[in-house]
Amino acid sequence: MTANDAQIKIQQLISVINKADKAYYVDSNPIMTDLEYDTLYNKLAELEREFPQYKDKNSPTSRVGSDIDNTLPESNHAIPVLSLDKCYSTAELQSWIERTKAKVTKKLEVVVEPKIDGASIVLYYNDGILTKALTRGNGFVGNDITENIKTIHSIPLSIQYKGFAAVRGEVYIDKSDFAKINADLPKEEQYANARNLASGAVRRQKSKEAAEIPLKMFCYEIFLRENQIKNHLDSLIFMKNLGFPVNDLIGFYSRDMNNGTYVPSVPFKNAMTGDTNSIGSCIQALTEQRSSLPYDIDGIVIKINDLETREEMGYTQHHPRWAIAYKFDAPMAETVINSISVQVGRGGRITPVANLQPVPLAGSVIARATLHNQDYINSLEVNVGDLVSISKRGDVIPAVEGVLEKRTNPAPFKLPEECPSCHSKLIVEGAHTFCPNKQCPARMLGTLQFFVSRTQMDIVSLGDKTLEYMFRNNCIRYIPDIYTFDYSRLIGVEGFGQKKVDNIIESVMKSKDKPYQTVLASLGLKDIGNKAAEVLTHIFRSVDDLIALCADTSKAYTALTQINGIGEMLANQIIEHFTNKDVLELIDSLKKCGLQFQTSQTVSNDNQFLAGTKWVITGSFEHYKPRTIAGDIIKQYG
Ligand code: IVH
Repeated sequence: MTANDAQIKIQQLISVINKADKAYYVDSNPIMTDLEYDTLYNKLAELEREFPQYKDKNSPTSRVGSDIDNTLPESNHAIPVLSLDKCYSTAELQSWIERTKAKVTKKLEVVVEPKIDGASIVLYYNDGILTKALTRGNGFVGNDITENIKTIHSIPLSIQYKGFAAVRGEVYIDKSDFAKINADLPKEEQYANARNLASGAVRRQKSKEAAEIPLKMFCYEIFLRENQIKNHLDSLIFMKNLGFPVNDLIGFYSRDMNNGTYVPSVPFKNAMTGDTNSIGSCIQALTEQRSSLPYDIDGIVIKINDLETREEMGYTQHHPRWAIAYKFDAPMAETVINSISVQVGRGGRITPVANLQPVPLAGSVIARATLHNQDYINSLEVNVGDLVSISKRGDVIPAVEGVLEKRTNPAPFKLPEECPSCHSKLIVEGAHTFCPNKQCPARMLGTLQFFVSRTQMDIVSLGDKTLEYMFRNNCIRYIPDIYTFDYSRLIGVEGFGQKKVDNIIESVMKSKDKPYQTVLASLGLKDIGNKAAEVLTHIFRSVDDLIALCADTSKAYTALTQINGIGEMLANQIIEHFTNKDVLELIDSLKKCGLQFQTSQTVSNDNQFLAGTKWVITGSFEHYKPRTIAGDIIKQYG
């Protein structure tokens, strides 16, 4: 055989073997017998040995792995590899869906996918070749595990698409394969679960060892430089057509499915479809199927289908806002309630909090957990002394989930009738209890603490303890006092040295540069959070314009309810605030202190060179800290 013939033959064999691999490993539909396969494979290996100059790096023979030590160096991701927001109850999930329905302007479509419990991997393709495979790592930098990943037969080493492509997916091991591997190991060497084995295997030092583990992969997201795909369903189909293993157990739900205006074709064998009201039944079906699936899943992922809508919804540093994972098992622990305290929020809301026998849970020690409100306490029939289960749902405050054993008090705990801070009579509104007294010390201190907090005016040197001390000693009672108090009076007081006082003065002064929107959102006015403040400050360039409008109630109501993002309730609330004497006085005092109550001049029209562009801000920046500054600057330029 001439060298030229060998080169052609090698390419032909690679192509046939790749097809056979895909048919066997991805489609579970073999196109040749094992003997036929082995013959072709051996022929290829033989030719590659004879003509090593034509050995393709991505030849199927490279899937057996090698004995050479991998170093698994770190490598930068070319895309931000974000995680998912999570919730642990169908109620939380339902509320996410409802909120999303309200936010999405286009027809709402969602794709539901099982959340595969394995190792999160990104595959990078350039020019149609698998050039790099990285672990998720910290989302910016991962470990290079390319050689190990190449041993997974269902992952295409080359694809028809020639542009840049990053494919996200989960490497996992089937439950039956995992059981077999464990059964062959002595007890002390057995793996705790298939996920641990999968994530260990992809990181093995020798790719030959990775090849010994029957790893599989499901791919669920693809990123292309050219934006040719319009929705997630199409990107799953696109990946499937390129030969990637895509889970065919998905749900597709559209708001318009019922009235027949839109009937998508969902070319996945086990797809479930319906209108968005039936997402719940899909969740239920997947939950019920969990134990009979051949692989482990630890939850269900719900994703917005339309990619443009995804970009509009945006991202936090940690997760996209267009998807959520409903996780089956919230991390739980057991402990005893030592006492129950009652907190008063800045808006007057009373929250019972269980003080617990400290217990470790999901990486931290938990000593307090919320009991939400009287209704919740009654439904659990919980009281001091009980042995309870507690959960940590994502990053939120731990909650008491249930009573495991009643120990001391047979009846449920009862909230007091008087405010623990100001002794006013508490009032009940729906499920919640409130202190109605605006001058309640707990509410006043809470308002101050919120105003100075990092996400608001960012006066960090007035920490909780310092502020509480100053509040109790009548140095600071109302927000304007923060700007008028003579801090030099503190020098000499225990704990207040010159340096600390200088720091306080500096950060108080600096906070005067905070934009109008932040100032408005920091006043703690009911329902005027960051979102409402953003809308208001965008439309009313100065607070005086807003106050002038609200002076005419009916005109204000008409004008406000026309604004996108302001409903009837919020409009009434805004009018109430901006006609209230105390609020107007507060604004007036703060203006005199030099705080911003109007939108700063935008850059002249000639410089609005970013007009019409869309930006996603994620990660952290060297020069824009916090990174919202980057957003402000982008907005300034159009
Ligand atoms: S989407 C930007 N889909 O869950 C959104 N993730 O807890 C990317 N996971 O790191 C994630 N199955 O490793 C997505 N069908 C699925 C998934 C899935 C499993 C993993 C993934 C991610 C983790 C977040």
